[in-house]
Amino acid sequence: MLKIGVFGVGHLGKFHLNNWKEIKDVELVGFYDPDDKVAQEVSEKYQLVRFLDAGSLIDACDLVDIIAPTPFHFGLCEKAIRKGKHVFVEKPLANTMEEARELVKLVKESNVKLQVGHVERFNPAYIAVQSIPMNPMFIEVHRLAQFNPRGTEVSVILDLMIHDIDIILSLVKSEVKNISASGVAVMTDTPDIASVRIEFNNGCVANLTSSRISMKKMRKMRLFQKDAYIGIDFLNKKTEIIKLRTPQDLDAFTFDIETQNGKKTIAIINPAIPEVNAIKLELEKFCEAILYNKPSPVSEVDGFRAMDIAHQILQKIRHNTINS
Ligand SMILES: NC(=O)c1ccc[n+]([C@@H]2O[C@H](COP(=O)([O-])OP(=O)(O)OC[C@H]3O[C@@H](n4cnc5c(N)ncnc54)[C@H](O)[C@@H]3O)[C@@H](O)[C@H]2O)c1
Repeated sequence: MLKIGVFGVGHLGKFHLNNWKEIKDVELVGFYDPDDKVAQEVSEKYQLVRFLDAGSLIDACDLVDIIAPTPFHFGLCEKAIRKGKHVFVEKPLANTMEEARELVKLVKESNVKLQVGHVERFNPAYIAVQSIPMNPMFIEVHRLAQFNPRGTEVSVILDLMIHDIDIILSLVKSEVKNISASGVAVMTDTPDIASVRIEFNNGCVANLTSSRISMKKMRKMRLFQKDAYIGIDFLNKKTEIIKLRTPQDLDAFTFDIETQNGKKTIAIINPAIPEVNAIKLELEKFCEAILYNKPSPVSEVDGFRAMDIAHQILQKIRHNTINS
């Protein structure tokens, strides 16, 4: 039985509480949140003990779940790791690269596991396309959200685009060669909308657009690779694969096209979407990693790499803004 302490019970923290209550072999020991109004509401609704001191809650649990605003991630992670507690921390891993680097070092020197909340890795639409080998050479991503003051303590790159950066880094097995980026701060002091091009050493190119000032929501990734197109709609939980037909595609809808190399048969495949709750699954997988001593599915190194690219993007945007 893993004892869980929840740090930050705001918007996302409440989703975590709901999911922890449904997960087997865990015990919620309490929560810590400095906001009295939020804390009273949560104590009453969830019948859960409020700890008034973060250190005491860390002492009382095995797994520290951090859903506080990003500037508090490092302090809480550091305390927990130094006390030998496993850490689940929301994305982005930390507020600065120095903090992220220090966390990677601390985890390496300790006996604990850390997972970063890059929840799109557990999105059913993303899980559904895992059946096809992925080796994308061109990626197009749109992640658009309506304006909400929550999360704006960081730029749209660290708030939204970091989800796509993490997915792309996990798919493209090559080093980043070059980054071009432009972004504009429209409603806040940091970029609210950005367009980014990431080029990899293996020739893969990813174009990412993120906005938190759109009228409509969209979370789509389109991947092109030899003989296949893979479309993932993270928002509506749909996927589509259009590829050269192989003997495995017996049940697929097919049609023929004429190419320079003769007639080709194309298959359209809509893989079955598993019925999973992404937040519940990411927390369950982390518990499994701890209990069965498996690697964390989204480790501190993954969180660091996504932050590293996000910060390089921000530097490019700053440089372009100063020089414009
Ligand atoms: N993975 C995702 O898709 C996703 C989505 C939304 C938010 N997030 C991340 O989750 C975190 C929280 O976001 P939110 O939208 O729930 O914000 P929120 O403002 O709704 O909630 C944050 C809560 O943390 C509390 N808090 C403040 N300081 C604290 C501290 N030192 N210790 C413990 N609690 C503290 C606040 O009082 C508040 O109740 C952020 O890091 C954000 O980036 C991730």
